[in-house]
Amino acid sequence: MGRLVVISNRVPVPTRNGDAPAGGLAVALNAALQERGGIWFGWSGKSSPGAEPPPPRFQQQGNISYVLTDLTETDVEEYYHGFANRVLWPICHYRLDLAEYGRKEMAGYFRVNRLFAHRLAPLIQPDDILWVHDYHLIPLAFELRQMGIKNTIGFFLHIPWPPSDVIAAMPMHEEIIRGLSHYDLIGFQTDYDLDNFAGYLAREGIARNLGDGRFEYHSLHFKAAVHGIGIETKSFAQMAQVAIGNSAVRKARQSVESRDLIIGVDRLDYSKGLTQRIDAFERFLRAYPGYHNKVTYLQITPKSRSEVPEYETMQKMVAEEAGRVNGAMGTLDWVPIRYVNRSVGRHILAGLYRIARVGLVTPLRDGMNLVAKEFIAAQDPDNPGVLVLSRFAGAARELKGAVLVNPYDTEGTANAIARALSMSLQERRERWQNMMNFLLEHDVSHWCDAFLKDLTQDKEMQAAPI
Ligand code: ADP
Ligand code: F6P
Repeated sequence: MGRLVVISNRVPVPTRNGDAPAGGLAVALNAALQERGGIWFGWSGKSSPGAEPPPPRFQQQGNISYVLTDLTETDVEEYYHGFANRVLWPICHYRLDLAEYGRKEMAGYFRVNRLFAHRLAPLIQPDDILWVHDYHLIPLAFELRQMGIKNTIGFFLHIPWPPSDVIAAMPMHEEIIRGLSHYDLIGFQTDYDLDNFAGYLAREGIARNLGDGRFEYHSLHFKAAVHGIGIETKSFAQMAQVAIGNSAVRKARQSVESRDLIIGVDRLDYSKGLTQRIDAFERFLRAYPGYHNKVTYLQITPKSRSEVPEYETMQKMVAEEAGRVNGAMGTLDWVPIRYVNRSVGRHILAGLYRIARVGLVTPLRDGMNLVAKEFIAAQDPDNPGVLVLSRFAGAARELKGAVLVNPYDTEGTANAIARALSMSLQERRERWQNMMNFLLEHDVSHWCDAFLKDLTQDKEMQAAPI
């Protein structure tokens, strides 16, 4: 197999001292890139004034070249805040009510994809394998093909793919989605997403279904398949075991005293169902007064995409809701909800998951949700906590030992919290073991290897001597 070229909007560039960046995706792709040699290309996260961003910057780390391109302020506004996060993100998360479509933003989206193609194409060698990530870059393969790039190109969608009618509500949806036919393989998180995608292609007459995940659009052939993303299970579990000795984790433990800890960890995003979760926690406290002063719910939620108006509004709502519940339910010596708007180090996070009795992961819609997987990996096998998981997270298709909830059902979620807190040790162990076995087998390296194998095997078969 040739070099690997990974392209994503955000690039997890290693820290100055050369440490690998945190996060399963970064760890897995870095490992694959180091092994094969390769490039990780994407946005630097910076914007520059003027009409044209400066040339990309290169940063070498072992076998990997990081290639980072700035964008103009207009690009960031139209492509990232505008089209990616005000159209594609809400639509893919079933939030038609929040989508703000504009032709200017769509033009910016295509323009930045073209810019990426122009900056990437000169770096590509004939047998490189290209792997493009996420909704920001749907048109990239088309733009590269226009420039004569014939390499194998795969695409992985980290977020959900909704039913056809939801996608079809996006003006000019065919123009955008047709771009996917220039990839060789399109990977989805779950079978639901893949079914929705196949349904959309059939309903809109965009491509012919040849069976076995294969499609044809004019002379283009492409495959679509499920490749649910994993985490670095083993090392995360080890990190959690060590992290309970970490001073920040010990302080957190001491500060909740003998109360049971319920933990939520999410970017501050409307897809995560935070107001519904806080309401469910309040309902739980009202329905089960025996738990007053016996539990603390810690919600660690860094702000995200704050320039997007829908996020700004929701940030205020979540903060108000947490304050309201604390005001209504708290006492002189007990604050039921600790609401924290910051990122914490990965090892601290691992330790906090481990000392928690319940992990509350209740998104209204989520591609996979890695927090659910991290929570399980971090548990103490002798005394594991319980995962309360939304049925609308991709992870619910895989983690059969979780207590599944419908996050729109406040009372049901409240009861699930009570059930998790009172679950017997034996049941907790059985549920946890089932999920941990799955996560050990389907870790992030497995995901990476399986996707790349699926992407390249047809070409390898064609090239093999008969
Ligand atoms: P999304 O990709 O929508 O943000 P995921 O749950 O799939 O949702 O992934 C989120 C990732 O970000 C996880 O690896 C999680 O550990 C990390 N993360 C989320 N919140 C925090 C936080 N407050 N501090 C540190 N890492 C966080
Ligand atoms: O997992 C979905 C995703 O949109 C990633 O593509 C992205 O890097 C992450 O969430 C965080 O979002 P952002 O890059 O917009 O801060």
